[in-house]
Amino acid sequence: MALQISATNPEHPALLLELPWHLPLEQWPEEVLVPLPRGISRHVVRYARAGTEVIAVKELAERPALREYELLRDLDRLGIPSVDPLAVVTGRTDTAGGPLESVLVTRHLGGSQPYRSMFETTMRPATMHRLMDALAVLLVRLHLAGFAWGDCSLSNTLFRRDAGAYAAYLVDAETGDLHPQLSNGQRDYDLDLARVNISGELLDLEASGALHPSVDPIEFGTEICARYHGLWQELTRTSVYPAGKYHYIERRIRRLNDLGFDVAEMQIEHAANGDSVTFVPKVVDAGHHQRQLLRLTGLDTEENQARRLLNDLESWMATQDDYAPGDPLGARPEVLAHRWVRDVFRPTVRTVPQDLRSSMDPAEIYHELLEHRWYLSERAQHDIGLDTVVEDYIKNILPKVRETLRPTDD
Ligand SMILES: Nc1ncnc2c1ncn2[C@@H]1O[C@H](COP(=O)(O)OP(=O)(O)O)[C@@H](O)[C@H]1O
Ligand SMILES: [Mg+2]
Repeated sequence: MALQISATNPEHPALLLELPWHLPLEQWPEEVLVPLPRGISRHVVRYARAGTEVIAVKELAERPALREYELLRDLDRLGIPSVDPLAVVTGRTDTAGGPLESVLVTRHLGGSQPYRSMFETTMRPATMHRLMDALAVLLVRLHLAGFAWGDCSLSNTLFRRDAGAYAAYLVDAETGDLHPQLSNGQRDYDLDLARVNISGELLDLEASGALHPSVDPIEFGTEICARYHGLWQELTRTSVYPAGKYHYIERRIRRLNDLGFDVAEMQIEHAANGDSVTFVPKVVDAGHHQRQLLRLTGLDTEENQARRLLNDLESWMATQDDYAPGDPLGARPEVLAHRWVRDVFRPTVRTVPQDLRSSMDPAEIYHELLEHRWYLSERAQHDIGLDTVVEDYIKNILPKVRETLRPTDD
């Protein structure tokens, strides 16, 4: 049987051909390998160089290799964070002509670490909680897409920390199954496997002294399930609103925020019976919003104010025709943010007369107006326009603010 390389990209087979396929992976010479940390695995996995890429090569039987390759391609198509499949190599033989196992080739996920390497440096419990939230996000996203993982564990996940955001990626899809939709029973089963695996892995870490003493492995496993359920509930609740009811959308964003999740992407679809909204959640670090708002708009605020302003910015972005996250043809976030500052933020702040603003800065004023709009809309149970909000704010709130700012006699 001849060596066969099936690849997603026509340039890859040529690059891959240079690798020593006639040797079992365990015998590959050091010069082709890349020494990066690997997680625990059943199969032999190695990192190698192919042209300018670092690839992960996993040795396994032909059928599961082809199956995993196809599943990873499906996940890629569905926009799920997972490793990129590059190729399957079959028909390998050693120099004596004896058969060797097939391999699955994926792109090494840059900036990622297996959990053991991350936990080696005694990780703060707060960071661990964020990582587990990222894993809950991954599992919810997989389930929403109809993918039953079948072996969700820390070893089958890669974690990335990037500019204050935490993301979990699926690395091992071998046991997975893609369905049009998952039943509650299928989800519960998958989640239970995750809980048992994760608690077990944390118990191992505890035994080797690598776990922060305040972390209880069993509780942690249970907590992941609770985080999953909260998020699932929030993302799947009925989401068709009368057209233009921004207030309802804001309520959902705030609930996600209260759960500790942020909105990475939001899509509003207009239909005759109302607007339907879908969210892609994400997990971020404390202080992330402040830095993000500063980067996008130059506005320097406190963290909770930054979060509200970013929510407003992102909801507004979703209404723009050239908003297409991830699409190179769509407007860049910086460009949209600049437009928002020019067309929304500044004109709104200017409606509050300068002499009434006391010492408040523009971002603080805008934040106050957002909070006031929220308050008024909640009370009225429908959207209150910004004009009305500003008017009410000037009449009823600002005088009180000025009162508290006035120097007292004593
Ligand atoms: N594309 C990749 N990028 C980074 N690490 C990878 C990649 N593919 C595999 N790994 C590492 O190899 C380990 C084992 O891979 P996995 O697919 O889980 O093998 P197994 O099916 O034998 O369990 C993972 O935990 C991860 O650390
Ligand atoms: Mg694995």
